[in-house]
Amino acid sequence: MSHSPARGSRPMHKVIFDTDPGVDDALALLYLARHPDIDLLGVTTVFGNAPLSMTFRNARVLARAFGATAPVHAGAAEALVPVAEDFPWHIHGNNGLGNLPVGEPADPPTSTAVAFLIDTIRAHPGEVRILAVGRMTNLALALAEAPEIAGLVRDVVLMGGAFGTHGNITPAAEANIFGDPLAADHVFRAQWPVTAIPLNVTRRTVMTRQALADLCRTGDDAMRMVGALSQDYIGFYESNGEAGMLVHDCTAGVFLTDPDLFDLQGGSVRVCDHGPFRGQTLQRPDGIGFPPSDWDGRRSQQVAMDGDGAAILDRIAKVCGNA
Ligand code: BDR
Ligand code: CA
Repeated sequence: MSHSPARGSRPMHKVIFDTDPGVDDALALLYLARHPDIDLLGVTTVFGNAPLSMTFRNARVLARAFGATAPVHAGAAEALVPVAEDFPWHIHGNNGLGNLPVGEPADPPTSTAVAFLIDTIRAHPGEVRILAVGRMTNLALALAEAPEIAGLVRDVVLMGGAFGTHGNITPAAEANIFGDPLAADHVFRAQWPVTAIPLNVTRRTVMTRQALADLCRTGDDAMRMVGALSQDYIGFYESNGEAGMLVHDCTAGVFLTDPDLFDLQGGSVRVCDHGPFRGQTLQRPDGIGFPPSDWDGRRSQQVAMDGDGAAILDRIAKVCGNA
């Protein structure tokens, strides 16, 4: 691809993708599989857009369809504190992939997401970047089992949260955080560098029907598969007044490779885990004086408060659509 220099002339990003495919997860996986600077070490799956049995199946089908050889592992099937919750069939379809018939994967099922995270992070100290675009349950379980991994990862990039703006599943909360707020709070408070890519940014990355069609025209069969499974998803957003579909998870993927397209704010982050504000994310911005409180002592994390939506979409087009 003309936009990227030869492999080896730029740093590679060793990435574990924690995901709940999920229509927008599928585009993100294609971005990771196609980007020449990304070394996809593995995929870990979690419940969210559909039950774990489906998200795990979907991740395996998508990874193989996209030519990715990375192992795919099953993780958590419920939140740290389970609650009765409906799956978003009206957004991601009755199979989590926009009702596109996807069949069954050839590779056998495994249930080792947490062990895979821990082992892989230990095997590559200081190198692994975790891109988490579903509930943070697998990450929280890995931290609980092996707290030292916080000091061994390069960073955690997550799609989640809504900072000073309304959510998308309740007025207070974004779906990934709402689905396991306790896990998200564990992830934000751990001693590893976290960058959150919240709705504040993903509401700026709206891919129109025309743009999606253009990617399918210039891209390969894998991109056309993503285009086919995105049809109902884009319809959902259009019926809600958007000009196209929000590509939440792929926007977080672009942060891995093009962080300059995002405006970051530093400060500790907390998550409300109950009541009407369940899943609400709040940041205490660095540099502002507050009286002593139980916010003190928490690690400062980064939150993307804004981003260049057009440029992010352009990056996605170049990588996924050979544009
Ligand atoms: C997030 O929730 C899921 O529905 C999407 O895949 C994305 O990760 C957006 O709020
Ligand atoms: Ca997702």
